[in-house]
Amino acid sequence: MSLPVTPSTPFGGDYNPEQWPEHVWKDDYRLFDAARIDTVTLGVFVWAKTQPAEDTYDFTVLDRAVDEAEAQGRRICLATGTGAHPAWLARAYPEVTRTDFEGRKHRFGQRHNSCPSAPAFRRLSAGLAARVAERYAGRPSVIAWHIGNEYGGACYCDLCAAGFRDWLRTRYGTLEALNAAWYTDFWSHTFYDWDEIEPPSALTEHWRGPDHTAFQGITLDYLRFMSDAMLANFRDEKDAIRRFSPDLPVTTNFMGMYRPIDYHRWAEHLDFASWDNYPPENTTPAWMGLSHDLMRGLKGGQPFWLMEQAPTTTACRDVNPVKRPGVMRLWSWQAIAHGADAVLYFQMRASRGASEKLFGAVINHAGRDDTRVFREVAALGAELADFGPVALGARTPARVALLFDWDSWWTLEISDGPNRHVRYPQVVLAYYRALWEAGVDVDVVPVTAGLDGYDVVVAPALHMVKGDLAQRLEAVARRGGSVLASYLSGRVDESDNAFLADVPGPLAPLMGIRIDEWDAREPEFTNPVLLGSGPDAVESAARLVFELVIPQGADAVGSYQADFYAGTPAVTRNTFGSGHGWYVAAGLDQPGVDWVVRQVLDTAGVATRHPGLPHLETAARVAPDGTRLLFLLNHSDQPVTAPAAVGGTDLLTGDTFAAGGQVTLDGHGVRVLREH
Ligand code: GLA
Ligand code: ZN
Repeated sequence: MSLPVTPSTPFGGDYNPEQWPEHVWKDDYRLFDAARIDTVTLGVFVWAKTQPAEDTYDFTVLDRAVDEAEAQGRRICLATGTGAHPAWLARAYPEVTRTDFEGRKHRFGQRHNSCPSAPAFRRLSAGLAARVAERYAGRPSVIAWHIGNEYGGACYCDLCAAGFRDWLRTRYGTLEALNAAWYTDFWSHTFYDWDEIEPPSALTEHWRGPDHTAFQGITLDYLRFMSDAMLANFRDEKDAIRRFSPDLPVTTNFMGMYRPIDYHRWAEHLDFASWDNYPPENTTPAWMGLSHDLMRGLKGGQPFWLMEQAPTTTACRDVNPVKRPGVMRLWSWQAIAHGADAVLYFQMRASRGASEKLFGAVINHAGRDDTRVFREVAALGAELADFGPVALGARTPARVALLFDWDSWWTLEISDGPNRHVRYPQVVLAYYRALWEAGVDVDVVPVTAGLDGYDVVVAPALHMVKGDLAQRLEAVARRGGSVLASYLSGRVDESDNAFLADVPGPLAPLMGIRIDEWDAREPEFTNPVLLGSGPDAVESAARLVFELVIPQGADAVGSYQADFYAGTPAVTRNTFGSGHGWYVAAGLDQPGVDWVVRQVLDTAGVATRHPGLPHLETAARVAPDGTRLLFLLNHSDQPVTAPAAVGGTDLLTGDTFAAGGQVTLDGHGVRVLREH
């Protein structure tokens, strides 16, 4: 089962009409008509209304909301409503509220505060999901189920401790195997009874915060367990839904690069992926491109839904700027360019009270249809309606894969040494950004993905190398492809223990190097790395980590220029089979990463698009009928002119372009070329 079937890109978003009087609803729909809003997500936070007491269900409010949406001809993404539990539930079952990392037992409050291991939560959430599915499965307007909301966080209560022990029994079978995996001979940690095992928290193994642990193996397994425990919650609800709704697609809204949940382990349990795009301040468009591509990679390249984005300002940050004119439209098309088959907002109408009353909405508190934000939403709605179904189901024809791995993320960031300032998403982003600026389509894939179709595989900070990954990377190079890995790769095995071998462990033969030692310095410190040779050589400022490479067959492509290791290789290229293994041993600055990535692309014969225009993003999609679309997105507020990479007709304006001619885009402009 895959995505909901729709005649065009679903457009709309989270709608919480239970928060305001019904006479306003008519007005909402009048405005939805004006903005061409055809899809609403209902019921995300209505548990307290649909189940006012344990033995009482009351669907009056949700019935009214569903009836109205259906009567008004909208499609509905219907939530089970379990993202926030009701107060009565927390009172009746105090164990349902979470215990935090510091060991503080929380009481009723906020949302996302349910212990994933609490039997009462599991029973009651699945029970509600079953009721919702039973009641609404037959509704023609309901096209998808939305379980929970933004799963995340963690719990450290006694129920979770017991759940953790069960999870460990399943994983290791014996305490002997567990003791070996966790390396418990260190610091007298040998466990003789499963009940001796404690969740790693501020009260046990941790000494500064969630990243500072005495036992990485224990902390790593708790991260895995917590992700699995919440997945079990999702599956409880999905199973409940399936009893009444065998064939409507089910999803939950992910959060892109979100550390606590290993979305790759979740992906097979969703019918389609969806996510909420709230880019951090000072973000680059490449950050969003990477997040979209990561989400598209969850289901093997199948399109996903953009489940939430802000029409304008957020509210939860210290400072919440508005989205500049044209930016919301640009970012919406960017999502589509990267594989989104829906463009949805949080939220359709602004809440009156509580923490999100100032969060941007399609409809403001005054209900106006003449605000700038409403006009921009309405214009996009009209544009998407005209655009029609041409991109639905389209795939990205990527020849480059970038490996993304939660285990590597976790183990790199919970490691003591070499440098706490290295953050996994930043390393990944630097490499992704180089590809993005080169105008190359990228599949961001799990380390278990098939790599046969790719000419280039990029593995930034592939800290953990597990299973047959090293052999599969060697196979890429053997058949003529290129593999690019960065510093801090090949450091640990599946249990976060070092390899009893030269660094980079199982990647060493492919890279043709060994790393003798590694230096680490404060973020301000730089050591120049000279890349290339002769008149074309460029200098890159390297930071944070400096691995000293001793080639074992590889050629030096760049070398350190200062300190006792001046002249030591910092970037290498190894011929392996008919292809290459490239290794970047230091935290090069962005121009340095760009330089290396261009060398790799050139060597592998991967074509770039507009590499000299860093604000001009391109992305291709190929529709099921073979139609080829090239999206051009201008992230600058200034107009841009570029040589047309392909000849085509802009589906948004009807303008036609000949290959080799010029394409112009306004500031924040978008074109979608259907290739001739
Ligand atoms: C998240 C949630 C929404 C809302 C928005 C805005 O994405 O899923 O319920 O809270 O953030 O803050
Ligand atoms: Zn718990």
